[in-house]
Amino acid sequence: MAEQATLTVGDQSYTLPIVEGTEHERAVDIGKLRGQSGLITLDDGYGNTGSCVSEITFINGEEGILRYRGYPIDELAEQSTFPETAWLCIFGELPTRAQLSRFSDLMTQNQALHQGLLHHFAGFPPSAHPMGILSAMINAMAAYQPVLMQPEQLDLFEEAAARLISKVRTIAAVSYKTAAGHPVIHPRPDLGYTANLLHMMFSEPYAPYEPDPDVVRALDQIFILHADHEQNCSTSTVRMVGSSQANLYASVAAGVCALWGPLHGGANQKVIQMLTGLQERGESIESFVERVKQDSSVRLMGFGHRVYKNHDPRAQIIKASCDKVLAKLGQEDPLLDMARRLEEVALQDPYFVDRKLYPNVDFYSGIIMRAIGIPVEMFTVMFAIGRMPGWIGHWREVHQNPKARIYRPRQVYNGATQRGYVPMAGRSGK
Ligand code: SDX
Repeated sequence: MAEQATLTVGDQSYTLPIVEGTEHERAVDIGKLRGQSGLITLDDGYGNTGSCVSEITFINGEEGILRYRGYPIDELAEQSTFPETAWLCIFGELPTRAQLSRFSDLMTQNQALHQGLLHHFAGFPPSAHPMGILSAMINAMAAYQPVLMQPEQLDLFEEAAARLISKVRTIAAVSYKTAAGHPVIHPRPDLGYTANLLHMMFSEPYAPYEPDPDVVRALDQIFILHADHEQNCSTSTVRMVGSSQANLYASVAAGVCALWGPLHGGANQKVIQMLTGLQERGESIESFVERVKQDSSVRLMGFGHRVYKNHDPRAQIIKASCDKVLAKLGQEDPLLDMARRLEEVALQDPYFVDRKLYPNVDFYSGIIMRAIGIPVEMFTVMFAIGRMPGWIGHWREVHQNPKARIYRPRQVYNGATQRGYVPMAGRSGK
């Protein structure tokens, strides 16, 4: 007999099944609660609510554990590549040599943009934020291969996934070049995924950019670390939109918009702006930390997490990579020293310790991207490129679930009770 929970309201009791996942997380299944009791649950921000059962990513926030399809994030960051990790997140297993080769070939075949798509970029002002461009271009891209919008068969899905992951990289590079007024650089079929992105961003017709292997590895590792993160805001958005049977491109484009927010993927841009602001004002770390503690409108960006209440394993890996990249590029970045000092001061301050606020994935990632030469307004686009496989994998999980229902949460209404219509003549005020 499965374990059950009992809810007692007044003189009524209701039994609800307990479900347990493969990592022994337990949940009260309230699927029949309203039918039995007329009650719904209320959970602002879904901090206590599971929206689905998923097989893609496991996080233990108390212990700082993150695994994609069972593989620990530190092992993938150390030994895998972004294309391989992308395959793992989407299809569930580490690819065979043949599968990875086919997937890489599909990404190479799909790396260029249709000439018609290139015209869209001219319509954006140079000041347009690249996240808005990315979301718009993903939907525009769908129009050129509508068959891939609702990929049913596996081979079609592989192509749709490869196409999305490959082209968002080209869209990012073209939006960067167009905003800068530089000629668009076409991808090179001889370069790997991440090296090609750097080539398309930083080469000029008269001066090819030869990506440094260590720099490529560091950015590839950032993409691996961002590939998925279970039911975060943007992935939940992709699942929500996909649950209406909206196509893969529309769902992922919606995920880009959710990620754009400064409380989510936009935080990596905000971290650098926070640090440069401190530097420009000449404000001490201690003074800023005091302001964060006193003024709830001032946040230590890159700190805190809904799930990690110990440490974000991704932040630790990226922090270690900062030193290697800066040393390789022969750079010293005062912002890194400031970030380290901020972390040191915050982790000794009861305000942060009591609230279990630690550096998250966004706290150090911008330091590396800045050192590579990626402009700060492109940081969240880099996050989106990394998160693409997770979004695609979760859309597929919803799409392949024969029992999938449209996501339609309930609410508790707290507005005006019934009242009669008042014609204009009877209304007070001018
Ligand atoms: C990502 O969900 C994911 O998995 C996301 C992500 C992924 O891979 O998809 O990991 C990526 O989005 C990482 C988070 C990036 N965002 C930031 O770095 C922005 C700064 N952090 C916060 O705004 C906040 O910590 C959140 C949004 C990340 C989490 O917010 P919660 O869980 O809703 O927590 P909360 O806002 O209710 O804060 C709880 C308390 C509050 O204080 P009290 O009201 O109890 O006095 O902690 C305080 C908050 O004021 N607090 C902070 C803080 N974060 C929380 N105070 C100062 N600085 C902060 N950064």
